[in-house]
Amino acid sequence: MTALDSRFRPGGRNWPLIWAYLIECGGSSKTTSATSMAVTAALRGYPGVVFDLDSNMSSSLILGYDETALKGKKTALDLLYGNATLDEVALPARYRVDDGYDDDAFARIPNLRVVPSSPAMASADTAIAEDADRNDWFAEIMRSYQGDDTVFYMDFPASYGKMPYSVLRMLDEEDSVIPSIKADPKDVKMVTRLLDELERVRDKNRGRRSVPGRPTLNHMLLTGTPTPTYKEAAARRAAELAEAKYASVLLPYVRYSADAKKLYEDECPLPILLPNSAPSVDYRKVMTHLGFVDMTD
Ligand SMILES: Nc1ncnc2c1ncn2[C@@H]1O[C@H](COP(=O)(O)OP(=O)(O)O)[C@@H](O)[C@H]1O
Ligand SMILES: [Mg+2]
Repeated sequence: MTALDSRFRPGGRNWPLIWAYLIECGGSSKTTSATSMAVTAALRGYPGVVFDLDSNMSSSLILGYDETALKGKKTALDLLYGNATLDEVALPARYRVDDGYDDDAFARIPNLRVVPSSPAMASADTAIAEDADRNDWFAEIMRSYQGDDTVFYMDFPASYGKMPYSVLRMLDEEDSVIPSIKADPKDVKMVTRLLDELERVRDKNRGRRSVPGRPTLNHMLLTGTPTPTYKEAAARRAAELAEAKYASVLLPYVRYSADAKKLYEDECPLPILLPNSAPSVDYRKVMTHLGFVDMTD
């Protein structure tokens, strides 16, 4: 079984690799990358969980759950308040194939679950500020984890508040913070602030034994890069800037596709909706680069 591969349990710990899609930059492609990489890995035989921690509920929607589908269901907020376990909240990932909300309006994505978000996740930082014990919500879920997932894909809002901090402190050097940014020089420049924030988290947790406290930017994704039909000068300059400053962590590029917007309308992740589009091909390349070779054939 893949799950027992030691690379998915850094330092012999009981919980999976954590990939945190984080950058304080709206519309930067965090959700597209988190869901595309998770689905690509799942289809190749690597079980995982996408945690939707953004109150905009984007990854919940792409993985088959809008607000109507989530009526009466537990969400990430119940995890934060300690009202539910991971297995009670995580739902089988799926995508829309028909209208309505019957089970046959959706098809299952094997090997993948989603922790859905809720609009109330907008108050997550306040909830932690009101009760410092809530800072441990994610630590407690990790310490009690016993499953065989390979990666937890954490989809964040565009902020460095208390909720992202409560997750970041559980990352070790083998995990990764993955800024997924658009090929635009202004987005590349935002990475400096992320590095400062990670340094702050590491400083705050130095010497602490109860949490790893070492979130590290090991991988960076540049999306919407030029193609023969999409030749933006800004995109080319962004790629040059990223290569000059971050060559050692830069993953293979994810090219531009105007169709990428359709994920939200169609409630279906990119690798399933448009498997032959340039970005889908590129996300497969990225996952191969990261060692997630196809195990299904
Ligand atoms: N490779 C790509 N080419 C073109 N547009 C993209 C690409 N990846 C993402 N997008 C678009 O960028 C917008 C923002 O992406 P999203 O993943 O929702 O960002 P974030 O989660 O950072 O807010 C969406 O409309 C999405 O369709
Ligand atoms: Mg998002």
